[in-house]
Amino acid sequence: MVPGRAVTLSRIQKTFPGGVQAIAGLDLHVAPGEFVALLGPSGCGKSTLLRLVAGLDQPEGGQVLIDGQPARLQSGQRQGLAFVFQDAHLLPWRDVLANVALPLELMGVAAGPRRKAAGLAVEQVGLSDAMHRYPAQLSGGMRMRVSLARAMVTNPQLLLLDEPFAALDEITRQGLDEQLRGLWLERRMTILFVTHAIAEAAFLAQRALVLTRRPARVVLDHTIDLPLQRSGSLRGTPQFAAQTAQLYEALQRGDRDGTA
Ligand SMILES: Nc1ncnc2c1ncn2[C@@H]1O[C@H](COP(=O)(O)OP(=O)(O)OP(=O)(O)O)[C@@H](O)[C@H]1O
Ligand SMILES: [Mg+2]
Repeated sequence: MVPGRAVTLSRIQKTFPGGVQAIAGLDLHVAPGEFVALLGPSGCGKSTLLRLVAGLDQPEGGQVLIDGQPARLQSGQRQGLAFVFQDAHLLPWRDVLANVALPLELMGVAAGPRRKAAGLAVEQVGLSDAMHRYPAQLSGGMRMRVSLARAMVTNPQLLLLDEPFAALDEITRQGLDEQLRGLWLERRMTILFVTHAIAEAAFLAQRALVLTRRPARVVLDHTIDLPLQRSGSLRGTPQFAAQTAQLYEALQRGDRDGTA
């Protein structure tokens, strides 16, 4: 089992050129192996936050620490970090297996072990039958599964996902949520998952953070009170509804509280 990374944000400030204050003094600690969902109104700073954690962007003030070390602008793989965006970002001239193998190739892993690890990752997301298809021959849901497999192939200790399944139909999304939850249960990497879907946050995460309108503050830091093993049928239960109701109420409050 790969232990997850700890993420600590302290007094983070991020202002964009033109004076857009995305984040003003945010504190957050995520323990190793936690699965955290981030919810908040559009434009409140969620993607900005993930980019800061990834070290793709730097704050003007405050610190982002990964296992106590400043997040650095360097190869994600070296940090044990993987990022999944809303678009799958696959290379159209590579088949599924070669797309998934790409991060290993960039790390200099030899062809044999590379193919084996990529094959396993493709299998884990249920795409064994499509191993040699090209992105143009895949549905949107299949492309996202390839993207997820590509993120998982390096065994990341920190996985950042920015609305990865937002463009998919509800049933496909629920299937992918179950797959992702299964991968997390197996590997226990730290996950930060941005979503606008309250039910998705409740189903996936152990903890949900609801942010206010820009500049983002935490309006609710909520432990999801649901069993560790979750299946699709959980979504229809009163316990599940109680969780989503709390998140919904906090989102409404956060939307009112913002200053932007
Ligand atoms: N590179 C940039 N230059 C200028 N402003 C930016 C830049 N990136 C983001 N912003 C602004 O910062 C704010 C936060 O943006 P961010 O993308 O983090 O929001 P978000 O919470 O991810 O929104 P959504 O839910 O719509 O994806 C927005 O007002 C946005 O316009
Ligand atoms: Mg965003």
